[in-house]
Amino acid sequence: MAAQNVKGKILFTQEEIWEKARTLGAQITEDYRGKDLMLIGTLRGAVPWMADLMKHIDLDLEMDFVSASSYGSGTVSSGEVKLKKDIELKIAGKDVLIIEDIIDTGNTLKALKDYFSIKKPNSIKVCTLLDKPSRRTADVQGDYVGFVVPDLFIIGYGLDFDQKYRNLPYISYLEESDEIVY
Ligand code: IMP
Ligand code: MG
Repeated sequence: MAAQNVKGKILFTQEEIWEKARTLGAQITEDYRGKDLMLIGTLRGAVPWMADLMKHIDLDLEMDFVSASSYGSGTVSSGEVKLKKDIELKIAGKDVLIIEDIIDTGNTLKALKDYFSIKKPNSIKVCTLLDKPSRRTADVQGDYVGFVVPDLFIIGYGLDFDQKYRNLPYISYLEESDEIVY
């Protein structure tokens, strides 16, 4: 890859992310054997990670998507969570695994877990590609965590800045000076 095409400073390469999907997928396969697994991905950020992870889960499973938002167009969370698209499949009695791109303040995840629990699933756990624990305000955590990251603004592999960079095949971070550059 030509250096001038790289957006931001690379934290994790495609190969490292794929390897993480392999190890977490194997662990999920063991943990959910004999259960009724339902993956629920959070649009739009979790899509690339979910696509990798599910190929490493050797079980019959179902998948659905939800869209919730706590972010405006900038880099700071508003703290308010809106459900913009609900799931379409039934989760009563199922073992729900929420697939997230990143847990930051945890507000989104807390709201989703509370919402899904009303629908009486057998269990609710979370698999997140990234965890930014230094910014947590809600009492929530990932059960399966890909990588722990420091308090940086992350882009790539589903994560966006103003809806761009989700397609980058690596995870990188933007510095203040990068944010005006498209
Ligand atoms: P939370 O509710 O604060 O945990 O935020 C979760 C959502 O905020 C994630 O699903 C992302 O969409 C977004 N987010 C949080 N941190 C970052 C980041 O560093 N880069 C891009 N998006 C982020
Ligand atoms: Mg998101």
